[in-house]
Amino acid sequence: MVRLDGPGASPASEPALRSHVLVVTGAAAAMGRAYLDHFASLPGWRGVGVTRRRPPSASPHAFLDGVDLLDADVTSRSLQHLAPTAADELVLVHAVGAFAFEADGAPKHDADCDGIDDTVYHSNVTTFVNIATALLELARSSCCRLTLCAFGSVADKYRVRQWQSYTRSKDLLRGFIRRVSALMPGSVRGVIVNVSTTDTGNERTLRPYADARYWLTPSDVVTASAPYLTHWHDGWVELDVVNTDHAISPEEHYAEERVLARWYREMGIPR
Ligand SMILES: NC(=O)c1ccc[n+]([C@@H]2O[C@H](COP(=O)([O-])OP(=O)(O)OC[C@H]3O[C@@H](n4cnc5c(N)ncnc54)[C@H](OP(=O)(O)O)[C@@H]3O)[C@@H](O)[C@H]2O)c1
Repeated sequence: MVRLDGPGASPASEPALRSHVLVVTGAAAAMGRAYLDHFASLPGWRGVGVTRRRPPSASPHAFLDGVDLLDADVTSRSLQHLAPTAADELVLVHAVGAFAFEADGAPKHDADCDGIDDTVYHSNVTTFVNIATALLELARSSCCRLTLCAFGSVADKYRVRQWQSYTRSKDLLRGFIRRVSALMPGSVRGVIVNVSTTDTGNERTLRPYADARYWLTPSDVVTASAPYLTHWHDGWVELDVVNTDHAISPEEHYAEERVLARWYREMGIPR
């Protein structure tokens, strides 16, 4: 099911533009790969995966590899390789962003004392700001439109203490996307995709005893969000993608004891 919010919430009827370049980060992992696979079959779309590790050798997709998105200079230099790529629109899908379960609600590492775990902050916010900044410059110099798409969690709205670093990092991303798309209507827009638990591999490692039957697949997320990437709208849109057969109720998120009991059980940690 998809719930929508934001000024761009009605998908525009404008036909797909002629030429799009889809830039996907986290492209060696399940979510990023699903976007590359989906858009590869659409006419007028070319995909480029951005990876830190070497990409899978058998992959049919094009990659910029060795790109550590925590390094602004490396990111900016690597993205220059896209400069000769003439396109009407660049579309960033940023499938990077570490999660941390904070049992006591406190960050594990917080050198700058902002209350947000440094690793979670940099993985979610710094990586996004670095690539978005490089693409904003590229879009400006190539006179093309830019779409910035990032992921949040549907549970962010409940401000759960046990993942407050993650939620606060995602809120900073939302703020960034909303601000730039409001500042540059017609040139830059935003798509924020909030998902419930998605079977990317990480979640099974973190919560091996969870009932994964109702988790979303990366392909579910792509199918729900793709229409908001293929059709331009001014401003930003925020959508929730959840499996309604197994949506976790707000009460489950608001009651801290229930959150802790469920997560310890799913992580296999005795209390
Ligand atoms: N899975 C869920 O249930 C769920 C729920 C809500 C939201 N989300 C969001 O969905 C997105 C994808 O989830 P995920 O679990 O696959 O994310 P993830 O754990 O961050 O991993 C995705 C990829 O990010 C790459 N990456 C990490 N740091 C990087 C860096 N500094 N430079 C370049 N690449 C880097 C990793 O590359 P390497 O392979 O090189 O390490 C990995 O392949 C994230 O934004 C996440 O927050 C997921």
